Amino acid sequence: MARVISFSSGKGGVGKTSLVANLGCLYAGNGKKVLLIDGDWSLGKLAITLGVRPKFTIDKVLRGEVGLNDSIEKVRDGLGLLAAPSGRIGFEELDEATRNGLFFQLDQLSNGHDLILLDHSSGIHWGVLQFAAAAHQHVIVTTGEPTSYTDAYAIMKMLSKRFGVRRFGLLVTMSENQVETEKVISRFTDVVESQLGVLLSVIDIIPWEQKMAESIRHQQPFVERYPNHDVTRRFKRICSELERFPLNISAGLQFFRSSQTPITMGQP
Ligand SMILES: Nc1ncnc2c1ncn2[C@@H]1O[C@H](COP(=O)(O)OP(=O)(O)O)[C@@H](O)[C@H]1O
Ligand SMILES: [Mg+2]
Repeated sequence: MARVISFSSGKGGVGKTSLVANLGCLYAGNGKKVLLIDGDWSLGKLAITLGVRPKFTIDKVLRGEVGLNDSIEKVRDGLGLLAAPSGRIGFEELDEATRNGLFFQLDQLSNGHDLILLDHSSGIHWGVLQFAAAAHQHVIVTTGEPTSYTDAYAIMKMLSKRFGVRRFGLLVTMSENQVETEKVISRFTDVVESQLGVLLSVIDIIPWEQKMAESIRHQQPFVERYPNHDVTRRFKRICSELERFPLNISAGLQFFRSSQTPITMGQP
């Protein structure tokens, strides 16, 4: 049964897709069977970031033209991708029956994988939150900008109040000043924990790295293009941190976790 990790952010362009692509490559390189799901159905860039052109996208599955299993694009050994239909209907616009049908099919896929990484569209659409709430681990991605934090707060508020998520990991990307970022997130963590009654742990602060955009232009994951770069070492550390990160007991959807016993978390 797969562990499902959700990557959310309030704002777009914070580096979620880059993170999911690179972490997926690293996990697969370590022998895990990994499925990446592009949940950003309007701007989905996961396939491009990984340098693949998928034969099928999720809309074909929804129309019943292809089975979910057959629509997984093999990126590498151990790394599969469910690609987003670009520019079509947003995931958040699916009606409930269709969405639940998709969840049900995804649940079946969970058995054949060790890890599922969800790359969401940005923002707090209800449909996106429902999808996110099905995960065992919640990573909130922000940049160092103040608006990025307020949006991240809004997502955690919804996921905690509406879906009972109690534990979040924070990944700050594109930091241009490590010391300054640390100060800001320390204050942010205090506010989130006291206001929302959740636990928020900082997983890492990834510096601004111009080569990240360059690797996307070359459609090659950063960790493969620059295997010895400091940022690649950080990505590896994030993989290990997430291995240890506690699982959520969420009051939300039971999909994905039907036969997995979550670790009990202390209440914050
Ligand atoms: N640490 C970083 N430093 C500099 N640029 C980054 C970093 N992480 C991501 N980027 C760049 O920012 C842009 C948006 O990243 P992306 O992963 O698509 O964000 P999101 O999925 O959150 O919208 C991309 O061009 C990407 O290369
Ligand atoms: Mg994205």
